[in-house]
Amino acid sequence: MLIFHDIAEIREFVRQARGKGHSIGLVPTMGYLHEGHLSLMRQAKKQCDTVIISIFVNPTQFGPGEDLASYPRDLDRDAAMAEGVGVDAVFNPAAAEIYPPGYSTYIDVERITEKLCGASRPGHFRGVATVVAKLFNIVKPDYAFFGQKDAQQVLVIKRMAADLNMEVEVVTVPTVREPNGLAMSSRNVYLEPDQRQAALILSSSLNRAAAAVRSGERDAAKIRQLVIDLIKAEPLAEIDYVEIYSHPDLEPVEVIKGPALLALAVKMGRARLIDNIIL
Ligand code: PAJ
Repeated sequence: MLIFHDIAEIREFVRQARGKGHSIGLVPTMGYLHEGHLSLMRQAKKQCDTVIISIFVNPTQFGPGEDLASYPRDLDRDAAMAEGVGVDAVFNPAAAEIYPPGYSTYIDVERITEKLCGASRPGHFRGVATVVAKLFNIVKPDYAFFGQKDAQQVLVIKRMAADLNMEVEVVTVPTVREPNGLAMSSRNVYLEPDQRQAALILSSSLNRAAAAVRSGERDAAKIRQLVIDLIKAEPLAEIDYVEIYSHPDLEPVEVIKGPALLALAVKMGRARLIDNIIL
């Protein structure tokens, strides 16, 4: 497995793979890899001849006061894990390689970024869309893989790719969870043992909501309130949002008729955790 830091080098690697007639898969990440990331890479290996991952803690998607400086980083460990699932190359640029002095261009996906994480993290999806567009331009992948864990993010990327006529197929991969239900996240390292236990309320409340729907409940407000009450009963958890929207359009829903996204964000100490389920 090769590791590149420069745009010119990864482009040359892609050119050579294309020369062999290879299809290219890209898995964008911010590193500190876990099984969720690896499942994206395994899916990419199934679908593509050459798999590239990017590891880049993208400064433009962090707001002031967020965890850019403390975001966990371990390139050696990440490289060993990526190699273990057969990744062909890692692109790990410095911030100045992606945003050189004078950098001035950003992508704003409208409407679907106004709610959920877009509302609580102003500018977040502008940074995400911009860096992913740049990665698509650098690598020119045939397929790019994103996790359902970040449900709104994958919808934003799909919207951007369609609106800007990008020749990439965006593939959504299911959320990978710990055996106890906790959705895997690089930010789970922020959790103290008692918070990690308390964090189970995210997935368990989503499951309770899904069970209510299976038993015939269709009132979105009631389902949302059920989840809010369950999380409020956990003293270590502080709700950022609990929302239900139609999926994939993210329109308001009152009565659940078709697929609906139940998404939540909860603060646990210094960690802000997100999770979701499609009802
Ligand atoms: P990061 O949080 O490192 O996640 C990289 C990819 O892994 C995203 O597509 C995310 O949805 C997916 N992922 C994370 N946890 C997962 C889990 N438990 N199960 C399945 N997939 C999971 O998301 C980002 O980085 C950045 O915003 C990025 C897209 C790289 C742009 O900077």
